[in-house]
Amino acid sequence: MTKVDLNFVEGLTLEERADLVSGTDFWFTAKVTGMDPMLMTDGPSGLRKQVNVHSAMDQSIEAVCFPCSALTASSFDDAMLEKLGENLGTAARAEKIGVLLGPGVNIKRSPLAGRNFEYFSEDPLLAGRMGTAYVKGVQSTGVGVSVKHFATNNREDQRFTNSSDVDERTLREIYLAQFERIVKLAHPATLMCSYNKLNGVQVSQNQRLLTHILRDEWGYQGLVMSDWGAVVDHVAAIKAGLDLEMPGKGDASKEEIVQAVKEGRLQESTLNRSALRVLKMAERYGYPTVAAPEYDMEAQHEFARQLADDSIVLLKNENKELPLNKDAKLAVIGELAEKPRFEGGGSSHVNAHRVVTPKEVMPQNASYAQGYRLDSDQPDDQLTKEALELAKNSDQVVVFAGFPEAMESEGFDKKSISLPANQNQLIDQLLAVNAHVTVVLQNGSAVEMPWEPKVPAIVETYLAGEAVGEATWDILSGQVNSSGKLSETFPVQLTDNPTYPTFGKDRRHEVYREGIFMGYRYYDAKKLAVRFPFGHGLSYTDFEYRNLAIKENSDDVEVSFDLANTGKQAGKEVAQIYVANHASQTVMPVDELRDFVKVELQPGETKHLTLKLSRRAFAWYNSETWEADNGKYEILVGSSSRDIRLRQEFELTIGTNPLGKITGETYVGELMENDDAQIKQVIAEFQLTDVFEKFMSPELAPVFANIPLRSLTMADVDAKTVHELIQKLNELE
Ligand code: BGC
Repeated sequence: MTKVDLNFVEGLTLEERADLVSGTDFWFTAKVTGMDPMLMTDGPSGLRKQVNVHSAMDQSIEAVCFPCSALTASSFDDAMLEKLGENLGTAARAEKIGVLLGPGVNIKRSPLAGRNFEYFSEDPLLAGRMGTAYVKGVQSTGVGVSVKHFATNNREDQRFTNSSDVDERTLREIYLAQFERIVKLAHPATLMCSYNKLNGVQVSQNQRLLTHILRDEWGYQGLVMSDWGAVVDHVAAIKAGLDLEMPGKGDASKEEIVQAVKEGRLQESTLNRSALRVLKMAERYGYPTVAAPEYDMEAQHEFARQLADDSIVLLKNENKELPLNKDAKLAVIGELAEKPRFEGGGSSHVNAHRVVTPKEVMPQNASYAQGYRLDSDQPDDQLTKEALELAKNSDQVVVFAGFPEAMESEGFDKKSISLPANQNQLIDQLLAVNAHVTVVLQNGSAVEMPWEPKVPAIVETYLAGEAVGEATWDILSGQVNSSGKLSETFPVQLTDNPTYPTFGKDRRHEVYREGIFMGYRYYDAKKLAVRFPFGHGLSYTDFEYRNLAIKENSDDVEVSFDLANTGKQAGKEVAQIYVANHASQTVMPVDELRDFVKVELQPGETKHLTLKLSRRAFAWYNSETWEADNGKYEILVGSSSRDIRLRQEFELTIGTNPLGKITGETYVGELMENDDAQIKQVIAEFQLTDVFEKFMSPELAPVFANIPLRSLTMADVDAKTVHELIQKLNELE
């Protein structure tokens, strides 16, 4: 067996080494003496191993299609995501796949972004947790992953050339934090760099991102490959830290590298470093010598159903419209019940093993009417008539609505988030003949629901995978208690979204003008009404939160509370912990999700839960480093971002000095607000207590609060004293 190390690499010819840093074709790494090629395959929701290298995108082997990430993230369940990874890894091994191209963990900045269905969340903690669990699951089977698309690929239009222009704080807190978590906690075999530019520099040749941040700061040891066709300047890319160009450009890829080395434009040591990483990946994840046993697709189908069960979100359930009454006459309406959207378009498309449509498994007391045509947005008079007739003669109506396939896919952004006109119109008409309407949604991302106030029940199933039919009825019938929570905010209308004025408006630059105020961070800061908030999802049982306690330890903050199931059936609740920073001297979101836990409770059962928040849960990025303000915070515990059940203030002392370095520009007000005994002591030593007390008297405080220390000379404190005072204050712990 060949031992892959630097010696081995140096023993290869220059041509062989140049060969290694590009794919031989669409899916394989190069073969060199002593090392076999390695196969990679999409993707996040199931295998898309093409029948052969040249076959069309949709000609892939049969595989189980799991729910898309928009839905799996709604599970808020790390353990289920890890199992998803294990299932995918098992299938990948059986198919001799070395690296699976996924998960995609980009943040959902705009509901218009074409690929939102493939991504987890608008919140970096949730995206990071789901991604970490998924990666650990896949890699536990001996298969590697490629976490994509690193980074700031948040729109599809002009994705190859567009520059995402993001300020440093926003970049670190919102768009990189999930990658950072996954890299540090799950050690993915590879990362896939994105197509776009970041602040003007092509990501595939962005040294700051691929080397300084990823490797030097986060300690990443794995390989970086390009997204397919993302390399512009191959030599610049290798120098910046990209190891593998995918797919290769044939001989041209090799020759440009050989030439660059010969002309001294690329150092051999730089090439060797990347070639070694490719070989190490092929060594570890390449063709397993022992064939993996065949896997049980039916068992995986069953898991796909459970995962969807665990994730589907019950958005609204007025007067207990759901679960459906078993004895009622039921109308099932909408072509999506017969031709469901259960997966996204583009590279994540799977040739599904066994799709079960909602119509196939609808209950015996149900009758079906098509209602509208998916290939048009205009009503069809005959179909409308049949649907209304059926609804009139039924006790309850379930109407399936959603985005048709042509409306959302990888490769382009949406123009709107409203349902096709014929679907919206039909829902209104159904409500006019029957008040008991449940809307079941199939869509890749947030959707406008103008009819929401009139509809008693709404169920969000996103793209639920091949077991869509079974899982949908599991929830509608109440056989499974719903426990999914929204991983993104559903605005009342698209125009409410903070990126609405700018998203996709400039072909060359996508400027992240909203900064950190994206998703719920924006809606909450603006106190804007939303259709359904981040973290929202109902259950058929009731939960009560009690007895919040907060304790600061030397390294973390412990949050504990009791969660009780006060209803009549078993259920799972996602308890969410938000942190509100009232200490900071800089702009902060109202509060931010900092932890969550999914708990199963029997009726009448109570569990005592303790979660630990590390310093990072209190930190913000000050454009150079993470900083945690000491001072007042509030911990909020709730069932959604806008359904907070318990809240308590507390004082953080294990963070960093809230004043940072004290300088002549520190304000008298800042110093005094702090109410710190040590600071007071120093002021006393300088015999300035009386002076400062006068400054802070009710009459003078409003003005003196806004006088910087350096200007105290105007108030008869001499410059030397001010200077020494500042020095002394900075010596404090
Ligand atoms: C997509 C990637 C995918 C790759 C290979 C690209 O167009 O952006 O997500 O893994 O193709 O199919």
